[in-house]
Amino acid sequence: MTSLSVAFPRLTAMHGPSVTSQVVALTRAGLERAHSAGGDPDAQRRLCEGMAFTPPGWLQPGIAARTSFVDEQVTAAIVAGLQQIVTCGAGYDDRGVRFRTQGVRFFELDHPATQADKAARLRAIEVADAVTLAVADFRIDDADAVLARAGHDAGQPSLFICEGLLIYLDLDTCRRLLGALAGRAPSGSVLAASLSAHAEGFDSAAVVAAANRSRRTGAVEPWRTILPVAEHLRLLADAGWRVTEQRWSPASSLDASHGRHGLLVLASPAAP
Ligand SMILES: C[S@@+](CC[C@H](N)C(=O)[O-])C[C@H]1O[C@@H](n2cnc3c(N)ncnc32)[C@H](O)[C@@H]1O
Repeated sequence: MTSLSVAFPRLTAMHGPSVTSQVVALTRAGLERAHSAGGDPDAQRRLCEGMAFTPPGWLQPGIAARTSFVDEQVTAAIVAGLQQIVTCGAGYDDRGVRFRTQGVRFFELDHPATQADKAARLRAIEVADAVTLAVADFRIDDADAVLARAGHDAGQPSLFICEGLLIYLDLDTCRRLLGALAGRAPSGSVLAASLSAHAEGFDSAAVVAAANRSRRTGAVEPWRTILPVAEHLRLLADAGWRVTEQRWSPASSLDASHGRHGLLVLASPAAP
C-alpha cells in the first residue's frame, strides 16, 4: 500500500479538507452501526462518495471501538431528551444524518476547508438541513463565541463530542476548548471524548515525537497531545469536567510503544 506521506502532500493537510478525517470516515463506512428511526443507516458511505483513499486495515479496531462508544452516547442523549449534540472536529462524522431526530439539533465545528467540503457533500445527498456547520480553528477561535453565533443554547444541556480530536491539539488549545465547552454545559450535559494515553514514566513530548515518526504519515496532521491517564483526568478536571466513566480502546496506530492506548471518557459538568 502507498504510504500516506507519499499519497497526500503537506499542502493538502494544511489547506485542504482533513485527510485523517476522510480516512476515519472511510473506515467507519464499513462498520455495522446503530441509527435512529428517522436516520439514514447508509449516511457514512454516502458522505464518503468519491473519496480517493484506501484506509489501512489496522485502523479498524480503534475506530470501531470509539465509533460504537460515541454512537451509544448519541443514542443515550436522544433517549434522555437532550436536544443539542455538538461535535468538535467533526470532519466527516455522519451522526447528524444517521441519528436524525425531530427536535434534536446537531452542531459541527471544524476547519473551513473541511466544512466547505462537508457542506457540499451534505447538499449532494440532500440533507444539508440535518446539521449546523460552523467554522472554527480551535487554536485561535473561541469555541464559546463560535457556538453562540451558530445558535447553540448554553442554557440547555448538550452532548459534546470530541472524538479523534484532542490528540491533534496542543495542550493549551485542549485546555481552552474543554473549558469553553464546560462554560456552555448546564447540568445534564455530557462530554464524550476519545484521548490518547501513554504509560506513566515517559516524557510526553518524547512519546509524541516517537509516535509521529512511527506513523509514516509526516504529511498529514501531526499528533500533539498524548498523556498519561492521570494527566488527562487532571486536564479534564481543571477545565470543569468530572469524569464519570472511562474505557480502554485500542491505540489508533500500529505502534503501541510507551504503553500507548486509546482512552474513552464520559464526563459531566463539575459545577453544581
Ligand atoms: C481524525 S479527524 C476526526 C474527525 C471526526 N471527529 C471523526 O471521528 O470522524 C480530526 C478532525 O479534527 C479537526 N481538527 C484538527 N485540528 C483542528 C483545529 N485546530 N480546529 C478545528 N478542527 C481541527 C480536523 O480537521 C479533523 O476533521
